Amino acid sequence: MPRSLVSERSALDFFPAKISYSSLAAAARTCKGCDIYMNATQTVFGEGDRRDGVMFVGEQPGDEEDIKGHPFVGPAGRLLDKALIDAGIDRSKTYMTNAVKHFKWTPRGKRRLHERPKSGEIAACRPWLEAELEVIRPHVLVFLGATAAQSMLGAGFRVTQMRGKWLECKLADRVIATVHPSSILRAPDARAREEQYRAFVADLAKVAAVVQGGVRLA
Ligand code: URA
Ligand code: SF4
Repeated sequence: MPRSLVSERSALDFFPAKISYSSLAAAARTCKGCDIYMNATQTVFGEGDRRDGVMFVGEQPGDEEDIKGHPFVGPAGRLLDKALIDAGIDRSKTYMTNAVKHFKWTPRGKRRLHERPKSGEIAACRPWLEAELEVIRPHVLVFLGATAAQSMLGAGFRVTQMRGKWLECKLADRVIATVHPSSILRAPDARAREEQYRAFVADLAKVAAVVQGGVRLA
């Protein structure tokens, strides 16, 4: 059969009849739109403040997120928390989610090592993120890292070139991409880490300026 006639499996097969944040979050718990769910503990759907208009999108839950069921509560989340404080953003007034909702990992001794989702898996999971954007309609949208940015902006998007710049994009009033906090944790030494951290906070400070400027008043 020609490939175009084979219907691709995706998150859409698990969508609720009536779309709302709660119905989506509930339906995502049973998603089998790609194979990642098979080795994961649970779906980690987006959560947080849905009214203040700021949405952060990461890659996928990590080991701790998979166990606890919440986004950005592990090491990368703790670094993000600190950077948000340093940039002047109140995390409790943001919505946090990921491009992929299950933890993809590979065993390394006793550890579960994060494994990058494939483009087909990112595509299979994309309907959840698209639906979150539709029901939340953020004013400011922040992509953390290449996987998140490429999921919505296309595979050609280069975070290294475009980070920290407001992007021309219809997904929200203000759209920006920056690095993923876990890339800072992987920096080769303390000095590089410090430098990368500062650059990350500088990108987030641009978001803070818009948030503090009162995007809701526009
Ligand atoms: N990394 C992510 O991209 N998202 C999380 O929720 C945790 C770590
Ligand atoms: Fe569904 Fe996404 Fe999980 Fe795949 S990763 S099973 S598409 S929620």
